[in-house]
Amino acid sequence: MLKVVVIGSNGLLGQTLVNKLVKNDDFEVFAMAHGANRNKGAIEFSYHEISIDDNSHIKILLKEIAPDYVINALAMTNVDACEVEQETCYDINVRFVEDLTKICKSINSFLIHISTDFIFDGEHGPYKETDRPNPLNYYGESKLLAEKVVQENLKSYAILRTILVYGKVDGMKRSNILLWLKGALAKGEKVTIVNDQFRMPTYVGSLADACILVMQKKAAGIYHISDDEFLSIYDMALQIADFYKFSKDLIHPISTSILNQKAKRPSKTGFDLSKAKIELGFKPLTFKEALTRFENELT
Ligand SMILES: NC(=O)c1ccc[n+]([C@@H]2O[C@H](COP(=O)([O-])OP(=O)(O)OC[C@H]3O[C@@H](n4cnc5c(N)ncnc54)[C@H](OP(=O)(O)O)[C@@H]3O)[C@@H](O)[C@H]2O)c1
Repeated sequence: MLKVVVIGSNGLLGQTLVNKLVKNDDFEVFAMAHGANRNKGAIEFSYHEISIDDNSHIKILLKEIAPDYVINALAMTNVDACEVEQETCYDINVRFVEDLTKICKSINSFLIHISTDFIFDGEHGPYKETDRPNPLNYYGESKLLAEKVVQENLKSYAILRTILVYGKVDGMKRSNILLWLKGALAKGEKVTIVNDQFRMPTYVGSLADACILVMQKKAAGIYHISDDEFLSIYDMALQIADFYKFSKDLIHPISTSILNQKAKRPSKTGFDLSKAKIELGFKPLTFKEALTRFENELT
């Protein structure tokens, strides 16, 4: 049985991972996050409240557990907030990761760290793992710095980069495009959606599967993980409307420049998923398949 610690266990990926891992007899699951445990679904795991400012406490806990794997799902993920609050973003997305790598090294645990397509500039997507990063915003810069820290400080690591993750867990503090759009269309609200940003959206269940595959295959290194359809965000919205049988007339295309967002967004990201498919046996879904899986797993 592998001992796995999920850090950031209250987030979208964190809760999804814990819920999957507890159902698998190959894993003993430990969860850590700040504040109270918000995951009401999973029962068989021990929860520890942590603060990213108290490394000695985290070190004591991890030393005692002696996990085979530590999965870091903790991050500051609001891209515009990262642009404005750069010191806080650095503290969470880089400094904490550096501290965590040192702890993992000292207790000989393998670290699975999650990164992002936003390390790329969006000029030459879909991207391979070996393509040159060039972040356009501070969030992307912080995630790239964290990747470097992981690579410099550890030999036993995997970095999973992912794209536009959606899903649903308990007590969410942040929504995502699927939940937000579904809610708005259900109320008959008109929405404007950018038609000049292209992504390969990722159901959080697919990302959690990939984390589990890394452990099962004893894989290491960098992997690009997303589902398998390259879409403009506008086309994604149309597919969501189609899937839930809402009126597409409510959805209006706009260009990114109109939004005046604090942080720049890369225009076309997307991943070449060959490495994950071949080495991990990762099975990405079409967008429609992923929506079907999302609905099935909700109930
Ligand atoms: N979501 C996406 O579209 C996307 C795309 C590409 C990459 N990623 C990466 O995927 C990973 C997982 O993200 P996610 O989608 O699961 O995001 P999420 O739901 O925002 O989860 C991040 C978690 O980090 C926690 N956290 C943030 N600041 C903290 C702090 N100072 N102390 C303790 N905990 C803190 C949050 O706690 P609270 O819940 O209490 O706020 C949250 O539970 C991240 O590394 C992210 O960069 C996400």
